Amino acid sequence: MKPQSFKNRDIHQIGDPVDSIQNVREHAYKELKATRDADSVRVLTTRYLGRKGILTKLLRSVSTLPPDQRATFGKEANALKGILEQMFKVALERFEHFAEKEEDWVDISLPGRVPAIGALHPLTQVMGEICDIFSKMGFDIAEGPEVETDYYNFEALNIPKDHPARDMQDTFYVSDNIVLRTHTSPVQIRTMKQQRPPVRVIVPGKVFRCDSDLTHTPMFHQVEGLLVDEGVSFGDLKGTLTVFVHQIFDEQTALRFRPSFFPFTEPSAEVDIACVMCRGAGCRVCSHTGWLEILGSGMVHPALFENVGYDPEQYTGFAFGMGVERIAMLKYGIDDIRKFFDNDARFLMQF
Ligand code: DAH
Repeated sequence: MKPQSFKNRDIHQIGDPVDSIQNVREHAYKELKATRDADSVRVLTTRYLGRKGILTKLLRSVSTLPPDQRATFGKEANALKGILEQMFKVALERFEHFAEKEEDWVDISLPGRVPAIGALHPLTQVMGEICDIFSKMGFDIAEGPEVETDYYNFEALNIPKDHPARDMQDTFYVSDNIVLRTHTSPVQIRTMKQQRPPVRVIVPGKVFRCDSDLTHTPMFHQVEGLLVDEGVSFGDLKGTLTVFVHQIFDEQTALRFRPSFFPFTEPSAEVDIACVMCRGAGCRVCSHTGWLEILGSGMVHPALFENVGYDPEQYTGFAFGMGVERIAMLKYGIDDIRKFFDNDARFLMQF
């Protein structure tokens, strides 16, 4: 933008020399304020300080003044000259500096960058779904410590110190009597010690085992279930787990209960579902058996009731425990458990 122009005559028309200086100062400030680029500052510099500039001429006019006014006028005019030189110089440097850095300018009219929004981890989602299904059936959610005593993790669950069943779970020992819990089952004992029947809880949480390959990681997630009341039967277990399987997979998914062994249940059963890939026809995922194991379950062993002070003659109950990673892998057709923990957003954002 060109600096606002005005005629020299406007400045010189006033007779009093001090007025002239003030007049020049005011005009100069006003014009400088209106500059928008280096060129307009240069034009202004010439206009005021050039050989034929307004201020230059004013300074030259000193000789035409009465002698008693010359000294004051000269001093003031020179002072203004110094100020204007300084101000024009600073203004010029600023404009030149910004012109150089133009590439750094922020164009505030551009649309903003959309921030990457996080999402729930697929395991958190599946764990939430599992909890939702059981919550709707009336189960409460319970939690327990990840660093657990040997007593809760093993002994109270009917796994004595030298029992061979300890080999079923490769354990991280913190000390002789403290372990990283190998399953969520200790929360069965903690819950039963805290409340009287009826008990209906599910327990989501992290568990730890000294194990690592395509289908095992040292930390993984389980959801435990426990229901204790009078007259609870194996039929209740079957009904509850059938509803669960039909909701987490789909209504067409067949399931079967296969006799098994766990020290804390009697009888015990493993639950298989018809292979989600081949629907039972047989494929690589199900090792051509048509079935996939998804959880362990059974009727609560009377020894557990004795350990928590429930009367085994009065109460019966069922329990189950499942691996969340396994359910998620089957649900989404994921073949390597480690993908859950690589934290590659391209993988994680697909769910
Ligand atoms: N705690 C067992 C495990 O981690 C799974 C399990 C089996 C839990 C049977 C149960 C149950 O509650 O009844 O291998």
